[in-house]
This record gives sequence, C-alpha cells and structure tokens, in this order.
Amino acid sequence: ATRYTGLIQHYADRLPIDDPADAISLGEGRTPCIRTYNLPRRLGFEGEIYLKFEGLNPTGSFKDRGMTVAVTKAFEEGSRAVVCASTGNTSASAAAYAARAGMTAFVIIPEGKIALGKLSQAMMHGAKVIQIRGNFDDAMEIVRELAEDYPITLVNSINPYRLQGQKTAAFEVVEELGRAPDYHALPVGNAGNITAYWLGYSEYACNKGERPTEACTFCGGDCPYLGTAKVDSRPKMLGFQAAGSAPIIEGHRVDDPDTVATAIRIGNPASWESALRVQEESGGWFDAVSDADILEAQKLLASSDGVFCEPASAASVAGVVAEIQEGRIPQGSTVVCTLTGHGLKDPDTAIAQSDQPYTVDATEAAVEGVIKEFI
Ligand code: F0G
Repeated sequence: ATRYTGLIQHYADRLPIDDPADAISLGEGRTPCIRTYNLPRRLGFEGEIYLKFEGLNPTGSFKDRGMTVAVTKAFEEGSRAVVCASTGNTSASAAAYAARAGMTAFVIIPEGKIALGKLSQAMMHGAKVIQIRGNFDDAMEIVRELAEDYPITLVNSINPYRLQGQKTAAFEVVEELGRAPDYHALPVGNAGNITAYWLGYSEYACNKGERPTEACTFCGGDCPYLGTAKVDSRPKMLGFQAAGSAPIIEGHRVDDPDTVATAIRIGNPASWESALRVQEESGGWFDAVSDADILEAQKLLASSDGVFCEPASAASVAGVVAEIQEGRIPQGSTVVCTLTGHGLKDPDTAIAQSDQPYTVDATEAAVEGVIKEFI
C-alpha cells in the first residue's frame, strides 16, 4: 500500500495541478462515511443514513479539501499571500495551509461571531487576523475589492480551485457506498460546497461518451471525464439554511442574518445562482431549519450516535429528520448527510446546551452518591 498523502496526489487525474508532487497538503480527505443506527431507529426510518464526517480533516472542517488545491495553485502561480472573508472555518484552513506554504494569510472575520476554536486556529497558525465591525457579507465585499487592488490571492469559494478540491468528497462517498446515495444533504451558507458535491457526483456519472440525462451544465458538454463513469446515477441534493439566515429559501438577500450556527450566518450567498442550478438539475430542494432544531440534532447525534459536529453541520441532519418525518424522503432511501465541521470548533455552544458536570468533594463516598442515582 502506498502512503496516503492527501487528496491532490490521490485524485491527481481529476484535479488541475501541474505537479502533484509539489502539493501543499496536510493529508486532508479520506474522511469516514459513518453509518448511523440509533438515528434511523428513533425516526422509524427503514433506510440508511450515513454521516460524511468532514470534521476529521486536518483543521476540523471540509474547507481543507478546497484549501489544499487553492493554496497549491496560488503558490504554483507565484503568489505569496492569501486573503479570505470568513465565518471561521475558512480562516482556520487558509491560515494552516498558508503556514505550510510559507505564505502570509490575511483573514477578515466578523467581530464576536466566530466560534472560539476557529479563532484560536487562525491565531496559532500565524494569520493576520482582522476583525470587522460588521458581518460576513460585509467582509466578503471588502476582500473581493482587496484581491483586485493587491497581489493577494482570494481563497474564498468563488476561487474555482476551492470547488475543485471540495468535489472530491463526492468521489469518496461513491467509492465508499459503491454507488451514489439517493439523497445528499448539506448545510448551506455561500452554497460553494453543495455546488462542489454536485460537480463531483456529475463527474463520476459522466457516462458512455454522453452527458447524464439531465443537462450537466458544469462541463458545458465538454467534460474531460466522458466515458469514465463510475456510477449511473446522481443523488437529489438537499440544502439546508438556518431559518434566521435563509436567503435562498426566502428568495431575497437577508440584511441582518442571525443564527446560533455562526458558520452559516450569511445573508448574501456568493454561489446563489449555482445553488439554484444544483437544485434544478438534481431534482432536490432547499429548506430552512430553526436554531432549536439544529441544536437538538447536534445533541442527538453526539449523545446517541457518538458523533460530535458543530451546529452548522447539524443543520443537514435537522433537515433530514424533518424531511423523513414529513414523508418527503421515502422509506428505504439511502441518505448521506455531510457534517461539515467538528464539534470542538465551538465549545461554548456545546457547553451551554449540555447538562453541567457534578461537583463534589474528593471522596469515594461523594462520587458514589452521584453514580448511585444511575445504577
Ligand atoms: N458548514 C460549516 C461548518 C461551514 O463553515 C460553512 C461555511 C458551511 C457549512 C457552508 O458552506 O458556504 O460552501 O455553503 N463556512 C464559510 C467560512 C463561510 O468562512 O468558514 P458553503
């Protein structure tokens, strides 16, 4: 067996990198697709629900898949600095990969709305952290202009190399399940990731020298992967936004987005149009989930299936729970939920919604006193 050295080398034939040996990598990718048992049982669901646990990437989120490609490409092209606007995870990932490449990372974040773990990562990796008195959408407008005025590479998901890297998660799901799932659910902020998964699934279904039956507009009919199909179907894509930050569902931009899931606190998604295309081409749909349902799903996964994700990630599960309960996902379906980030990213939210620890004297009797309540 050859050593796994990250997704650029692993998927070299499907990524736009000149020399994969020079990849700037932290061994990202190859995350597990974990089957749940308690969740479907609790829902009375006779089907399969898998968790693509992207929190197990090197910096704890799916962003690493895109960042390895974006930073490798930036370095290859001679750039020496990267910049991003971020709700936290992109900044952590950009900071780590820039450090690895010996580049400077500038990260622009909304003051006070970044989960603690993410902020600590950006700081530890040596990024120049600039907090603005504004939200993510304000930060995004600023970095778009900065990247035009200065020799700095923008590594938000409007950088096409980000999506190229992120599409590999769909490859892994197909390889792990031996087929495409019937439904694939994701939390949606800028809608970059749902676009990337659709790209990945579409490439793996690009069949027999023809395009898949529905028009695959990503390749414009000029797909380099024609005839290399690994599967003959693609999933219906389900996108979930937090109710207080749901511009795609409401059909208009939200000026003051709010949600406990700070990662997806976005009112003006950068990839809005491609999100709508994904919905139409895949036959899937978008919906909103409340903060209460997001937190409940997060707690349920952690306490009954042993998987701890951050609040934004739990939006995919909260959404799937609702779709199953309302009968829109039929019995017998195979469903994959992407858990985009690790629960340790946001310890404050986790602790605030959990039972607090018992505090007792340092004696066996005192500890016994607690244990006896449960035995
Ligand atoms: N889940 C998590 C944990 C995220 O950090 C993000 C986006 C998303 C879901 C949504 O993905 O934007 O591609 O639809 N985080 C960005 C950031 C905005 O700055 O870290 P999307």
